Amino acid sequence: MNVYDSERMVDALAPLGYGLVDTPNDADLVLLNTCHIREKAAEKVYSELGLIKRMQAAKAKKGERMVVGVAGCVAQAEGKEIMRRAPHVELVVGPQTYHRLPRLLEELDDGAKRAIDIDYPSESKFDDLPVSAQTNGTAAFVTIQEGCDKFCTFCVVPYTRGAEMSRPVASILDECKSLAAQGVREITLLGQNVNAYHGLGPNDVEWGLGRILSELSLIPGIERLRFTTSHPRDMDDELIEAISSVPEVMPYLHLPVQAGSDKILKAMNRHHTAESYLATIDRLKRARPGLAVSGDFIVGFPGETDEDFAQTLALVTKVGYASAYSFKYSPRPGTPAAEKGTPVPPEVMDARLQSLQQLLSEQSLAFNQGSVGKTMSVLFDKPGRKPGQLIGKSPYLQSVVVEAPKRLIGEIASVHINEAGPNSLKGNVVIEEER
Ligand code: 5AD
Ligand code: SF4
Repeated sequence: MNVYDSERMVDALAPLGYGLVDTPNDADLVLLNTCHIREKAAEKVYSELGLIKRMQAAKAKKGERMVVGVAGCVAQAEGKEIMRRAPHVELVVGPQTYHRLPRLLEELDDGAKRAIDIDYPSESKFDDLPVSAQTNGTAAFVTIQEGCDKFCTFCVVPYTRGAEMSRPVASILDECKSLAAQGVREITLLGQNVNAYHGLGPNDVEWGLGRILSELSLIPGIERLRFTTSHPRDMDDELIEAISSVPEVMPYLHLPVQAGSDKILKAMNRHHTAESYLATIDRLKRARPGLAVSGDFIVGFPGETDEDFAQTLALVTKVGYASAYSFKYSPRPGTPAAEKGTPVPPEVMDARLQSLQQLLSEQSLAFNQGSVGKTMSVLFDKPGRKPGQLIGKSPYLQSVVVEAPKRLIGEIASVHINEAGPNSLKGNVVIEEER
């Protein structure tokens, strides 16, 4: 979502004459778009700001100005702290107010020393941001939902991104049609809790994600649809029906579970149990044979015992993930979990992360190896490292390397898979698909 947000900021600033440069050294304005989800991501901002300060000073020596700004969730959560710790930052803008960037820059131009906007405005940024008109890519992200009302006790998102907000149906359809007209074949719908989507459609009727997916699949040129990230509690019947019956919806679902112990899931305020999660996956796999799942995990949540962690491993074994992200618990200021529970010692966290990652990487290698001998559709998006090679994505987001002519970039072809490694597959094109 941050990549998408950065593109929207570029769009919002284009009318003022701003464009992208290749290196911050050349920039009149440097905007850091930031993530607050774990401490490591947040701390990175301050080290980046240190580097940029030197570039700013070098420019100042030449009599040139460089405005430095921080955008995104760290700005939202720590805006004032940033201004205190980094006096060279003149602009702070939270993720809800990118559309006000031109106005904030104007304030600086008019002589304001600093400009900060970390409001949760009543107007929706979806209504105010220009819809991106350009992409020369074959796959695109489209934000359809923002914020989260789930309040998992470890998570800052409900505080930094605010309450759940769904983008109106018409605006999503317009953006996707425009992307398709420019050659985009694959669209990934984004939202912190994307399957809680409930936007307004024609005649003020609310649409769910299932209906959006069905409608998008009718746009000529759109051949693949994905959505991320989903919450296990919000997999409703309409969405499962779309996963089952809309072939453009890819058979690959990111469905984080976080942990396998019901005690920990309860302490995390996840509103599901290990069993209900497994039942949801079962239902999905029955609805869409061949469906594969990826997940997110947190180890070392306060109070997690060896037995609790063993239940995470047991759940992973039952599901068999195609791929997954796993993290050590990182206390986030202001979240309920940061204030209670017995912390897990760092060395125990390290050991648990290592054994979970070992199991997950065995599973993802096994999943990749299971692709050998199969024929899969691949959407090619770029040349490979060696001359004559192309790289594309399988329905399961695996990178697939083939020898094929460049004209296949932007196209989908059937590829027979011959080889699998931990991070990619190799194969040869058997049929170039016609559109
Ligand atoms: N500590 C560790 N991991 C976290 N995540 C969210 N908050 C935290 C935290 N405080 C992870 C979850 C989530 C993913 C985006 O980041 O696994 O699904
Ligand atoms: Fe955070 Fe996801 Fe939980 Fe929402 S559902 S609070 S975004 S982890």
